Amino acid sequence: MKGLYPPTSSTPHIDPKGVDIAETILLPGDPLRAKFIAETYFDDIRCFNEVRNMLGFTGTYRGRPVSVMGTGMGIPSISLYSYELIHFFGVKNLIRVGSCGAMQENMELYDVVIAQGASTDSNYLNQFNLPGSWAPLSSYRLLEHAKRIADERGQRTHVGNVLSSDLFYGADPDAMGKWMKMGILAAEMESAGLFANAAAGGVDALGIFTVSDHLVTNAKTTPEERQTAFTGMIEIALELI
Ligand code: ADE
Repeated sequence: MKGLYPPTSSTPHIDPKGVDIAETILLPGDPLRAKFIAETYFDDIRCFNEVRNMLGFTGTYRGRPVSVMGTGMGIPSISLYSYELIHFFGVKNLIRVGSCGAMQENMELYDVVIAQGASTDSNYLNQFNLPGSWAPLSSYRLLEHAKRIADERGQRTHVGNVLSSDLFYGADPDAMGKWMKMGILAAEMESAGLFANAAAGGVDALGIFTVSDHLVTNAKTTPEERQTAFTGMIEIALELI
């Protein structure tokens, strides 16, 4: 499906200065993590965005074009970047990579969560004026491929529904328990906006997460540990290209 607007050279938040953005992009929240991914895994790296320090890079992985860009935190932030990537720069596969808080007892720190769907407490979906509740889902094509890659690598994974919450520090102490009872695997803060934009734009999106903290046991990883654990998830995402 074509975007709402014709391709353009720059947008309010992305100014590639002539550098191409690949059809497949990895989307970590932290722009410095985007830089780390590009420098660690890509060849022929070019920076395509420095606006607001939301760094984006294009390169190749095993000879195939790929981009990576930070999205910031929360649905409003990932939504504006993913909207511009889809509608102005023709990006077709958007793969969020990030951390999440586990919400089920059978989960452990460093497990990988692959989002099949993203429930949300955000009002972002209201703009589509649907006559009911719409379920933001990831791309089955990307999901099935990611699960297969993870299994081949012997990676422990959980596939299911995540919660894209607007609240990192929520006021209602019962809220998370209610989501847990509905089988939500993990909390993060962006995927519902990404999946909605992808569906509305007719492109594919996926979310892959490493468990960085546990909302049931209160276990937490250290920043150093997260760096290593992150690697397994990134490598699954890169194998998708
Ligand atoms: N990302 C990592 N841990 C999280 C949590 N507990 N809640 C929301 N997003 C997260």
